[in-house]
Amino acid sequence: MNNARTVHIKSFGCQMNKLDTSLVASALREAGFAFTESVKEADVVVINTCSVREHAEARVVSHLGHLKHARKHRPDMIVAVIGCMAQRLGESLLAHDVVNVVCGPGQIPQLVHLIEEAFASNAKRMAVADVIRDPEDSSSDALEQFESAYGHEGEEGRALRGQAFVRVMRGCDNFCTYCIVPYVRGPEQCRPPARILDQVRRLADEGIRQVTLLGQTVNSYQYRNGQKTCSLADLLGMVAEVEGIEWIRFVTSYPSEEFYDDILHAMASSPKVCRYLHMPAQSGSDRILRAMNRHYTAAQYLELLARARRIVPDIAIAGDFIVGFPGETDEDFQATVDLVQQARYRNCFVFKYSPRPGTTADKRHRDCVPDEIKQRRNVELLAVQEAVSERLSRGFLGRIVRVLVEGPSKKANVNPTDAHSHPQLVGRTATDCIVVFNGSPSLAGRFVDVRITETSPLTLFGVLAE
Ligand code: 5AD
Ligand code: SF4
Repeated sequence: MNNARTVHIKSFGCQMNKLDTSLVASALREAGFAFTESVKEADVVVINTCSVREHAEARVVSHLGHLKHARKHRPDMIVAVIGCMAQRLGESLLAHDVVNVVCGPGQIPQLVHLIEEAFASNAKRMAVADVIRDPEDSSSDALEQFESAYGHEGEEGRALRGQAFVRVMRGCDNFCTYCIVPYVRGPEQCRPPARILDQVRRLADEGIRQVTLLGQTVNSYQYRNGQKTCSLADLLGMVAEVEGIEWIRFVTSYPSEEFYDDILHAMASSPKVCRYLHMPAQSGSDRILRAMNRHYTAAQYLELLARARRIVPDIAIAGDFIVGFPGETDEDFQATVDLVQQARYRNCFVFKYSPRPGTTADKRHRDCVPDEIKQRRNVELLAVQEAVSERLSRGFLGRIVRVLVEGPSKKANVNPTDAHSHPQLVGRTATDCIVVFNGSPSLAGRFVDVRITETSPLTLFGVLAE
């Protein structure tokens, strides 16, 4: 089709959002749209947005500003805003000059229709219903159908060869006081295991080798069907039996008291379950954890890590932290530093507290920690982690690691020990270590063994061992 309508999709935010982007991309492709990298050539621009921090929203707003110029050359261009910001801001987004369509995450099955309508009538369109509260709700059913129809196909939505994400639950019930997610994604709903497995099988048939199971608090996945309950550990066992699937990951875990040792045992006993946990602590201060409505203390969190390491000795753990939560004192921050020093994370992600309208923290507290202090704490915490990561990385020197190849390395990392003519590739180990080595780009999506010859805190460098 030469005169197919074209769509440009831009995605902000987390893996959940990327997954929605790929579903939407498949639906648009089925509706006859061709994809374009260039906004200038697009008949439709879809922006999938994130609300987790103010900065993420500011990037979207600035992107909308850029689109104003593109619109000058293409007055008929349709701009659709989807995702968490669409849910949070709803109708008010339609007031923005360039926005034609607003569609929340619960309504994405309607997106193609809304776009068609906007084309036909040149009018603004919106479908942002309340977040879905009830799994019996017809919107919930429509979402499930949409996910089943499009959750297994479409290279364009898939960032990496051989890898795919599979949602196992939507929403979150935790209401950590700083977090917008429960408001924009609704309450926790677990998808039926049969649907998930069906999707994984189809992915495996398409050549997918690694699946990452996604949920906001994925370790609490539980699906009840009559007398039977399927837990995440059960699900991991079933997915591991799918032929073709070699590695299974799951993110993100909530450090609850009852972490469910069965998950750790699944990891210890199945070579397919990657020995990796992403388990945010958010703070090392019990006072702040309480104010965040996180249901654990720093000591309990560390005990959980110790238990994980007893069951899975070589497990890699990654964490998230928020610095500058309202009322965070130097002492509170020191407790966070202490936690990071003891946790032996492979990696950790640090965020400056960003007040989100409507959340409990925002209603209760003023955002009173000045940005300079947030910034200083951010830098300091990353430096503490860097020293830990550096030590852990050095332990890999001389070892051979198995890597799932992602593709050409984006950064022009120079591996000093291998001046081959092959380009640099990047891949990851089961424990989520980034590995850079020289090799043929055709290795993307395949497993290779790499001997580690150099290390930096977050990257291992090596040569193909075959
Ligand atoms: N401000 C800063 N960071 C936040 N996160 C979630 N909400 C906020 C907020 N309001 C961080 C948490 C979470 C990660 C995805 O984003 O650390 O684990
Ligand atoms: Fe947000 Fe807490 Fe739910 Fe994670 S567990 S999505 S931080 S409310």
